[in-house]
Amino acid sequence: MRVLSGIQPSGSLHLGNFFGMMKKMIENQDKSELFVFIANLHAMTSVYNGKNLANGTIEAAIDFMALGIDPEKSVFWVQSEVPEVNELTWYLSNTTPVGLLERSHSYKDKIAKGIAPNAGLFFYPVLMAADILLYQSDRVPVGKDQKQHLEITRDIAIKFNNTYGEVFTIPEAEIDENVATVPGIDGQKMSKSYGNTIDIFSEKNEMKKKIMSIVTDSTPVEEPKDPGKCNVFALYKLFAAPDAITDMEDKYRKGGLGYGAVKKELLELVWNYFTPYRERRHELMNNKAEVRKILLAGADKARYHAVKTIRKVRKKVGSQYFKD
Ligand code: ADP
Ligand code: TRP
Repeated sequence: MRVLSGIQPSGSLHLGNFFGMMKKMIENQDKSELFVFIANLHAMTSVYNGKNLANGTIEAAIDFMALGIDPEKSVFWVQSEVPEVNELTWYLSNTTPVGLLERSHSYKDKIAKGIAPNAGLFFYPVLMAADILLYQSDRVPVGKDQKQHLEITRDIAIKFNNTYGEVFTIPEAEIDENVATVPGIDGQKMSKSYGNTIDIFSEKNEMKKKIMSIVTDSTPVEEPKDPGKCNVFALYKLFAAPDAITDMEDKYRKGGLGYGAVKKELLELVWNYFTPYRERRHELMNNKAEVRKILLAGADKARYHAVKTIRKVRKKVGSQYFKD
């Protein structure tokens, strides 16, 4: 069973990314053959500064490794280091109906937000299909927002297989409906596009500022409160031990508890939770040459699989015009 996923290096990682997707993927490493990559080519649809893209890519790789992706257990690489993905994108595009891409919600939403409707943005799902099909992935764990991209990938794979003969495994999306949406400091979904994130690796002062500004209601300290309706408690639950969660629920219901006190406790919990990861990240940041080597070795492993697929595809489409 091959599990594959990618993440764009287009901003700092936040608690939503960690609990929504990364934690599960890291835990998956021991159970399946995991392929994980940094989607730097996809990030080009929103990052128009070469230096920022390059720095963002290495930092995303370091963050992932610091949080527990183990390049010994998983195949871990940077998307652009396997050039066959671009070649496959072109092959796939010739059996992909324009109408399929025009129906993409993500494309329509991004344009509505004012992102330039460049051809790259329109082609985003074809490149994503190439990522998935090149490695003959069985399962793709993604957040709910990526559901349609996976449906498009399946359509593209089926159409290609029907046109040229069976080449690609048809992948399944793995969407965990139980993963709660992590709220941001304003109570909406935590997302870098809403500017409401608590970043995993921010400085303590910055983290404190964010946590102290989580929006709460104005129930006075002495009155009982409903933990189920509190954004601070929703985050507290992600970090505290089961006994501490029950105690905290009691304190909410009894009254006499101020939101400020819970926020202070939350800050310490979050900070301590990520301390070992922060230390590991610090080491990796000071050792980028080593990280580069690890990523190149990962790209070699990924490429071995990519080449197997692309050779089959070249024969099928006829771009390999001689017999070997
Ligand atoms: P953002 O919304 O900050 O741009 P991305 O779209 O880059 O985040 O998300 C990367 C991954 O993290 C996706 O799989 C997504 O489902 C997950 N994710 C992002 N925000 C949250 C959240 N608030 N709660 C749960 N999962 C999230
Ligand atoms: N589109 C994904 C996101 O924004 C990132 C991504 C690119 C991806 N290629 C992928 C995810 C292939 C899974 C499989 O989250």
